[in-house]
Amino acid sequence: MPPVTPDVVAKAELHLHIEGTLEPELAFALAERNGVPLPAATQDELRAAYSFSGLQSFLDLYYALMTVLRTEQDFADLADAYLFRARGQGVRHAEIFFDPQAHTARGVPIGTVIDGLCRALDAAPGTHGITTRLIMCFLRDESPESAVATFESARPYLDRITAVGLDSAEVGNPPSLFREVYALAREAGLKCVAHAGEEGPPSYVWEALDVLGVDRVDHGVRSLEDPALVDRLVADQVPLTVCPLSNVRLRVYDQLEDHPLRRMLDAGLLVTVNSDDPAYFGGYVHDNFTAVRDALDLDDETLRVLARNSFRASFLDARTREAYLAEVDAC
Ligand code: ADE
Ligand code: ZN
Repeated sequence: MPPVTPDVVAKAELHLHIEGTLEPELAFALAERNGVPLPAATQDELRAAYSFSGLQSFLDLYYALMTVLRTEQDFADLADAYLFRARGQGVRHAEIFFDPQAHTARGVPIGTVIDGLCRALDAAPGTHGITTRLIMCFLRDESPESAVATFESARPYLDRITAVGLDSAEVGNPPSLFREVYALAREAGLKCVAHAGEEGPPSYVWEALDVLGVDRVDHGVRSLEDPALVDRLVADQVPLTVCPLSNVRLRVYDQLEDHPLRRMLDAGLLVTVNSDDPAYFGGYVHDNFTAVRDALDLDDETLRVLARNSFRASFLDARTREAYLAEVDAC
């Protein structure tokens, strides 16, 4: 287990795409192991391509690079590498997204993906001191029928999955298209989250709440454009999983100093801080905490509120959540 520095506060990470933790080093190792070509000759050349004009330009590289993931061992190695880094960032609990359609479309069976991830996640309390949950995301730029077919193919594995999510290219692909698959997920007892209000308008956040019935909104930063929506999110204390470094790298904001995180907290929103795709966006979750602390001049008490929020917004049972909150208070 990596050492945890004493000034790193205990936290949960609730918005983390496991495929977005694929560091160039591991990508090259897996490319060689599986004989898969990469879109760059060296790790430095690859990193030089990490300059994005928006969500789609990032997604193009994200999907290209994840083609190195082929076997159960690859997915286990990917998750284990994330967990190792996360522990060093104070993560005690992680609720992890994966994109099954991005793998099944390439001929990788969904069972290979889930079994590989679960091999690392099941061992994580012992190997890394981290508890985990798995969130299966549907790609919103694929059809609603494909989402339903993916859900049906995952039925044998639903005991490993806590929630469903919705990600990929947002604009033009509103949440309401995915009403049916979310109804199936809820019927099966799963929690529901969805990316909304990252690049898309506030109406997408309304749809995520009222049509999909989500328990959390991923990103949700554009909610601030609609005061009635803010009132609703505050009244129901719907958690927002905000990803500051991601928002800057994907040009939602020009610079971190312009990020509305402090305004969101001041408005009474239940905000958490997360890393999204840390291998691509210049930092893991504690790096996001320190970056917003510096850019927005947040004090220690505000950072503690953010750490507490991360456990309050988690899908943990009440007893475990309270135990983690006590850990935050003791930090
Ligand atoms: N998939 C991976 N990262 C994403 C993001 N920031 N938004 C939407 N889909 C994603
Ligand atoms: Zn995301």
